[in-house]
Amino acid sequence: MDKIRIVGGRTLNGTIPISGAKNAALPLMIAGLLTEEKLTLENVPRLADVALLQRILGNHGVDITTAGKRNGDDPHAGQTLEIDARAIVDTTAPYDLVSRMRASFWVIAPLIARMGEARVSLPGGCAIGTRPVDFHLDALRALGADLEIDAGYVVARAPKGLQGGRIVFPKVSVGATHTALMAAATAQGETVIENAAREPEIGDLAACLNKMGARISGAGTATIHIEGVPRLRGARHAVLPDRIETGTYAMAVAMTGGDVTLAGASPDLLESALDTLRQAGAQVEATNEGIRVRRNGAGILPVDVETQPFPGFPTDLQAQFMALMTKAKGNSRITETIFENRFMHVQELARLGARIHLDGDTATVEGVERLTGAPVMATDLRASVSLVIAGLAAEGETLVQRVYHLDRGFERLEEKLARCGAQIERISS
Ligand code: UD1
Repeated sequence: MDKIRIVGGRTLNGTIPISGAKNAALPLMIAGLLTEEKLTLENVPRLADVALLQRILGNHGVDITTAGKRNGDDPHAGQTLEIDARAIVDTTAPYDLVSRMRASFWVIAPLIARMGEARVSLPGGCAIGTRPVDFHLDALRALGADLEIDAGYVVARAPKGLQGGRIVFPKVSVGATHTALMAAATAQGETVIENAAREPEIGDLAACLNKMGARISGAGTATIHIEGVPRLRGARHAVLPDRIETGTYAMAVAMTGGDVTLAGASPDLLESALDTLRQAGAQVEATNEGIRVRRNGAGILPVDVETQPFPGFPTDLQAQFMALMTKAKGNSRITETIFENRFMHVQELARLGARIHLDGDTATVEGVERLTGAPVMATDLRASVSLVIAGLAAEGETLVQRVYHLDRGFERLEEKLARCGAQIERISS
């Protein structure tokens, strides 16, 4: 298994190109199931999760081709995928695939919308607490799907098609909002989604569905209206920049000091996280190229943070921010309100010398003068990158094991950081 070796203590200086958003690319690829025509997606990141979803969609009969590079193409541009779901040959999503990536459960909506049936494995356990799918199922039921659970599978039927309806989510869920959008796009009549997630990736999916002929308004607000259309056509859409990758590198720069431009990043997608970084003492400004982040001389200031649905501080940046706070000049409190048990990075950060006290959903971080390198174990995607951030500022060598977690969500992480002066390398074994 590959490892990442970091020797900490260097500042970061230069430019980091920001990739397309994983959390937008996945639902957009799944939306390809909704049409018989070709859906072309540009700026798709090269990630293990994208490759796995290609396999999962392939299992349903979807042909996905990757367009080759042309002369003059930006070497860091994402890939272009052509998704052709003309013939869906299988409406079952098996356990061995769905259990490897939760988001693949979302195929349930387009399969039932297009084929009138779907048999999709329940995703099962997850490293960051119980993550049920009840909101997804309630949304599908509200649109007239008949659902039963059989041997670990959700068996969904709507032989006469889905009907528009009113969906009221009891709690904000990104995935369930994606499910509701995809199911409602071709349902008969009007659907209203209340307490919808407002994350930018929802807006990106809605924009792409509208290019495909859907009639969706209000995406990005808590109430979304969808007027069902009989069919969707092909379209071309570019995936929006990854706000979590952006925030992660911004925190890395705040941690090490230096001056880095995050090229292609969009500040509107993460205002809350950027504000928090400013309070922590980093200089953050929007430029023509993207976002410039600097920290010179001055130390890191402690800031209290609570994770919230968009536009609040994202849970997907909580671990990275905690890494930053380990070296702040004072105590900070970090409260996780979205997922239970999303603190597995705490024990690993402690191995580097961090002082963190956990009490329920709140971590109190007592800033320390210095961290020291150590072997650490990645446990999930965001936790593992928090260990990289800490390692960049730790004295000596940090060896991050189980790097496959990083490869799920960060494209060429070690290369992007090394180009800015970090001493970081992948050790393949
Ligand atoms: C998505 C993101 C993930 C991010 C999360 C929250 C993708 C691929 N993943 O995950 O990176 O951390 O949003 O921003 O986009 N819940 C239920 N029942 C449900 C669905 C969710 O109780 O049916 C709960 C969850 O357990 C959690 C909360 O709702 O406590 C929010 O989860 P949700 O927004 O659905 O997360 P995902 O869509 O799985």
